[in-house]
Amino acid sequence: MTPPEPAASRVLVIIPTYNERDNIELIIGRVHAAVPAADVLVVDDGSPDGTGKVADALAEDDDRVHVLHRTAKAGLGAAYIAGFDWGLDAGYGVLVEMDADGSHAPEQLPRLLDALERADLVLGSRWVPGGTVVNWSRHREVLSRGANLYTRLALGLELRDATGGYRAYRSEVLEAIDYAAVASEGYCFQIDLAWRALRAGYRVIEVPITFAERERGKSKMSNSIVREALWRVSQWGVQHRGRQLRAIVRNRTRGTTS
Ligand code: GDD
Ligand code: MN
Repeated sequence: MTPPEPAASRVLVIIPTYNERDNIELIIGRVHAAVPAADVLVVDDGSPDGTGKVADALAEDDDRVHVLHRTAKAGLGAAYIAGFDWGLDAGYGVLVEMDADGSHAPEQLPRLLDALERADLVLGSRWVPGGTVVNWSRHREVLSRGANLYTRLALGLELRDATGGYRAYRSEVLEAIDYAAVASEGYCFQIDLAWRALRAGYRVIEVPITFAERERGKSKMSNSIVREALWRVSQWGVQHRGRQLRAIVRNRTRGTTS
């Protein structure tokens, strides 16, 4: 008999869904083809198109598939918070974020998991050498590059792709960074988590990924998500630069009095 896997190495792939009926079966199949031992948690916000029911049917047939039903569309950030709560309670050692629409290739998941051997948080990155986007509109590419440049300048982050949503966390990181306090949606939520992990002293590394635009269904990205990110990153930037400035002034004062 094979011994049960130690909890620390158990992998949970969290897939948030809103109207992804035509994608969900395909993506879960690809996850299991790539990493057969991984469990999947679908976090569905009561999709009107019946994604939740399709996911339930898949879970019936496969012990590795779980579904969390939420009542209303409450944003990507809130869906991940619920998913992390569920995964940490269940004792998974590794928690992965992945979109349902195929933009994050499950075939590249082993690359993220391998990199987690030498890091605490691994970001799938479109904007490091080897990373790329396929079929993305010029508008989205400019938006993503701009958001990452702004984040780097405002927060002094070294990361090339802090907004991406394909990642693998060691459970310790999530346990330490108070992710439930993160009140933002969309890519802003992603920036916040990466920044918290860095500030808490965890090793965050980026590995190249190929991000392919979805073929079925619609993106839920909206202008309000972009505005929220701009506003929050600016606020954090001002606070961060204020802290840096105060530290410089403190050191100067100390230097002149001693
Ligand atoms: N449960 C739930 N609730 N799921 C949601 C919600 C929500 O309110 N909004 C979006 N999702 C799910 C989608 O169904 C999909 O599986 C995933 O989250 C990503 O949503 P998309 O709408 O496809 O995002 P995108 O392709 O425009 O944006 C991607 O790139 C951004 C950075 O450029 C995502 O990977 C973002 O996470 C990333 O920040
Ligand atoms: Mn997408």
